[in-house]
Amino acid sequence: MDNASVSAMLHALQDPAGIPAPAWIFQYLMVLTWAFHIAFVNLSLGAGLLAIIAFAKRRTPDWARLSVAMTGVTKISVSMAIVLGVAPLLFTQVIYDPGWYTANVLSAFWVIFFIFSLGVGYTLWFVFYFKNHDASHTAQLPGGAIWWAVASLALLLLDGFIMHVLSYQSLFPAKWMQWYAPHGVPVMTGTAIHAYDLPRFAFFIVMSLTMTGVFLIGYARYFRARADIAVGYLDLAHRLGVKTAYWGVALQLVTGVLWAIGLPGSMHVFAQPLFWLTAVLLVGVALYASRVPPGGSAAQAYAATALYAVLALLISVDREALRIAYLAPFHYDIAQYKTHDEWGAVVWFFATLIGVGGGLVAFYATMLWKAGKIKGLYVADRTVERLGDAAVWINFSWLVVFFGIAVWAYVRNLT
Ligand code: HEM
Repeated sequence: MDNASVSAMLHALQDPAGIPAPAWIFQYLMVLTWAFHIAFVNLSLGAGLLAIIAFAKRRTPDWARLSVAMTGVTKISVSMAIVLGVAPLLFTQVIYDPGWYTANVLSAFWVIFFIFSLGVGYTLWFVFYFKNHDASHTAQLPGGAIWWAVASLALLLLDGFIMHVLSYQSLFPAKWMQWYAPHGVPVMTGTAIHAYDLPRFAFFIVMSLTMTGVFLIGYARYFRARADIAVGYLDLAHRLGVKTAYWGVALQLVTGVLWAIGLPGSMHVFAQPLFWLTAVLLVGVALYASRVPPGGSAAQAYAATALYAVLALLISVDREALRIAYLAPFHYDIAQYKTHDEWGAVVWFFATLIGVGGGLVAFYATMLWKAGKIKGLYVADRTVERLGDAAVWINFSWLVVFFGIAVWAYVRNLT
């Protein structure tokens, strides 16, 4: 297939109904939300690995405590990774629908298996959590309990690989026909995995160490407020955080360079400012992490996590820049996507995101942040109470307006 035919195919595969707002809005949201997704994927995998390693050393009380803490962190993070994966999924489907759906259909078995294995993998982590949620009992647990966690993590990793394959296959539209019908005969099983790039996948996975490292530095600082948590334990978490972040950055540099070397020469990746900016920021995360003193100020410790957040966003931009470069020969320019502006829907979307989402997140985040600093029963203060009330009222108003619009549209269309 020549490039012109591939270009025609890509445009024919776009949604004929068009999109309800300029494509860049979806693109920006996709890049932003994917950064959140990968942050929690990274925390799930990194904290999960640490929970396992700490479990193996559970005879020492600090390690038993760390294992229990990281088991809980993974339990929560996986659910966040899943929820925050849906957002970029929806935006990708809107502006890159030809690539996303074709990649899914070509490996349909794995897409279905993804759902199944994610459910099983997450359930296995809960089994481990129910065994390992009380540090005073962890030392007595039989060593075999670890296998629940290992199996869970292996399945979650496999899920990440499936996501990678789907992302990657969608970048090669010139090969789709050959994958779909080698020698002209369609293969309908959907069991094949047609393309993957191990350094690219590994780069995203080893980033889990970077994320978990900066998280541990923040964790060690956060719990200094609690008199019932020994300073020795927090110092261990801090030291481990710095070491883990170091390893994460080193491995990201190695896998990142391997990934870059394997990219098509026409992309001239080593001449791109984005490449060097990412490399500098990566090294910056490690250097900064090593300079945060144990028990230093809160701003010092949390800035390490903030640096990771900037890094995740930059890597999300890199990913998108690569996609644009891969699709450029086929003139796939999202700015030319057929658009039927529906500003009402766009305003409603942002009002929901900022009002309902923002209100609830502000309430929960503030409440949990304050509650975690207190041992035993937490009683909400005025700020938290007000945030809670505001969130409930915003939700209630949202429901009224939502159903109001529905009834109005229904009645209007009756006549
Ligand atoms: C714990 C399980 C998961 C892991 C380890 C994981 C990991 C990853 C990784 C490594 C990538 C980057 C792939 C690449 O660019 O090469 C990715 C992309 C992505 N993931 Fe996940 N993921 C998980 C679960 C999910 C779930 C449940 C969803 C959605 C419901 C999701 C949605 C996405 C989307 C939309 C992309 C980007 C696709 C694209 O635009 O190319 N992920 N994920």
